[in-house]
Amino acid sequence: MKILITGGAGFIGSNLCDRLINNNSSSGSNHEIFVIDDLSTGSIENIEHLKNNKNFHYYIDSITNKSLMRELIDKCDVIYHLAAAVGVKLIMERPVHTIETNIYGTELIFQCAAQKGKRTIIASTSEVYGKTRRFLLQKMMI
Ligand SMILES: NC(=O)c1ccc[n+]([C@@H]2O[C@H](COP(=O)([O-])OP(=O)(O)OC[C@H]3O[C@@H](n4cnc5c(N)ncnc54)[C@H](O)[C@@H]3O)[C@@H](O)[C@H]2O)c1
Repeated sequence: MKILITGGAGFIGSNLCDRLINNNSSSGSNHEIFVIDDLSTGSIENIEHLKNNKNFHYYIDSITNKSLMRELIDKCDVIYHLAAAVGVKLIMERPVHTIETNIYGTELIFQCAAQKGKRTIIASTSEVYGKTRRFLLQKMMI
């Protein structure tokens, strides 16, 4: 299966790349992984060890690059959409960039994926967990 991982050089994305590539040898499956990442919060070091793997391809670019996203989504069977502007500091300091990445970028991916009928998995945000457990319990007791 051809799998596109946006944000594949990030924390979750790079671990997913490792898992899928390792599955190739352990289960005999033959996944081909395509990563797109602009390295804004991710790191090339996270995928350095995969660069020479024949089943691994990566593009240092933004998910807002419409023509590239169209091409990659067309090529792949499944999309894991993990690219996002994350972190309170970055979001507070770069609100327009955040909107462009998280809203426009995601909309673009869904549009291309819907046109081509490609299944897309998107991550939620850790913000859904709310504040610390202690804070939550305090709130619930009020
Ligand atoms: N880490 C957690 O605990 C957690 C929990 C729940 C959900 N999530 C969600 O999972 C996703 C990935 O989180 P993460 O922890 O791996 O963060 P991360 O910052 O390590 O990964 C995000 C990746 O997206 C890339 N990126 C950002 N903007 C981009 C753009 N315009 N084009 C291409 N690539 C871009 C970054 O360079 C980075 O590699 C996010 O949507 C996050 O909200 C994370």
